[in-house]
Amino acid sequence: MSSASYLTDVAYPHHFQTQATSNWLAFVATALGRAVPDISRAYRSCELGCGQGYGAVINAAANPNGHFVAVDINPRHIAHGRALAAAAGVANIEFIEANFRDFAESCAHDTFDFVISHGVYSWVSPAVQGEMRQAVAQLLKPGGLAYLGYMSQPGLFFLGPLQQLLRRHVQGATGSLEQRVSAALNLLQGMASARVGFFAEHPQASIYLQSLASRHVHYVAHELFNEHWSSINSGELIEQMSELACDFIGSATALENIDEVSVPGNVLALLNQLPGVAERELFKDLARNQSDRCDLFQKRGVAALTTGQHRQALWQQCVTRLPGAPLAGPIEFDTRIGPVQGPAGLFGPLLKALADYPQTFASLAGLPALGGQTGAISPALQMLAWAGHVHPLLPGELDVERCQALNRVISERALKGETYQWLAAPTLGSAVAASPLQMLLARVLLDYPQLRGKLLKQTVLASARQLDIHATEVGLDAELEAFERQVLPVWQQLGVV
Ligand SMILES: C[S@@+](CC[C@H](N)C(=O)[O-])C[C@H]1O[C@@H](n2cnc3c(N)ncnc32)[C@H](O)[C@@H]1O
Repeated sequence: MSSASYLTDVAYPHHFQTQATSNWLAFVATALGRAVPDISRAYRSCELGCGQGYGAVINAAANPNGHFVAVDINPRHIAHGRALAAAAGVANIEFIEANFRDFAESCAHDTFDFVISHGVYSWVSPAVQGEMRQAVAQLLKPGGLAYLGYMSQPGLFFLGPLQQLLRRHVQGATGSLEQRVSAALNLLQGMASARVGFFAEHPQASIYLQSLASRHVHYVAHELFNEHWSSINSGELIEQMSELACDFIGSATALENIDEVSVPGNVLALLNQLPGVAERELFKDLARNQSDRCDLFQKRGVAALTTGQHRQALWQQCVTRLPGAPLAGPIEFDTRIGPVQGPAGLFGPLLKALADYPQTFASLAGLPALGGQTGAISPALQMLAWAGHVHPLLPGELDVERCQALNRVISERALKGETYQWLAAPTLGSAVAASPLQMLLARVLLDYPQLRGKLLKQTVLASARQLDIHATEVGLDAELEAFERQVLPVWQQLGVV
């Protein structure tokens, strides 16, 4: 099947994947005991299927040591990415309009430290999946890391039958794409409300349909109306990658690397009897009813860290808190297998130390309150990072000015209706989420960083009028007060504004 069978007549909405940045991947793979590419020096990263390139441009601005190559088959996507990079003067990125096979054929072997691909592998034909695996294996340097984010079995087993009818209905109907998609969803929602047959047996199908109602129609179109959508068998993928000298090393979803908190306790003993990586991952998929995975692979050729090297690498990690992080323990993690308790004796001192300043692993290990718990610090930091409470700081060079130039462009376009929801965060090598009001605040604060209180409110309202945005004063004081107290100090520390 040709690559062109992928939907190209509607643009995919803008996303940013925090778990696919080079800094995050290095942080997680280090915790897993792997020798990772050194991102404090020059490195190269490639994204297969970059969509409109919004995430790729943020990555490039926030990671000045990286050179980024973003590949997509859709000319509209590539044009958007190029225009965004040009508007913000982001120069360490190339956009390439090509299919994966042609792109890989045009590249030398072993040229990238990172190859990432999110939301592509489950949506293309088996032939293109093979091209993607070949491209990853060919492009990665020995020791390089690959990230593959995809829909997995068995959590979405119910989607196949729904998709068959949805697709046929959209193909057969007339009207705009929006009209045809919503007619097809209404058809199935009618069946779900009537709780007939399949829907009576599989309530998850109705919940899933409801969740689609609030999504952008282009997202739904890419998600469900591509010819080749399928949920992937992780064991098979792990074996196929292994044959290409790329070993599965864990998940970029940091929590999933810690069996004690991501696999139900009453089957851990069964899991621990299984020797093979592929078999263990399939077991975990069943135990968690997994529906999506963010797999990490490493190209063979570099030895895993020794115990001493691992300790040394962890010792150098430095993390900072994110907006909204709790200031004290205990803490409850809302996981796929239910609530998991983070004990006060471990998480309390960590959160307290992080409340004011970023902390290195070494300084956390030196806290008297954590005496005797050094071995628990790395898993705890991975859990806090997974929950969005902390993030690794970017080692090496930062480009605050470039990120803020990009944030000007992003916030301005978001206010004019573009569906951007993230701002570059230079100290993280990543991005932070921003609501529409926060986009407006970012736009104002990038020009007037000192504004606070009444003056900030007046300027925000004046800017909203100028930009013809509907902004209501109702509740605004409380929202601004919360923003100034909880979010702004962290944004400033991160270099967002
Ligand atoms: C669902 S979108 C995901 C975009 C982005 N990675 C994200 O997560 O927001 C899949 C992307 O893969 C691209 N794509 C699909 N098949 C391709 C192929 N054979 N070669 C290059 N790009 C392809 C599509 O054009 C689309 O932009």
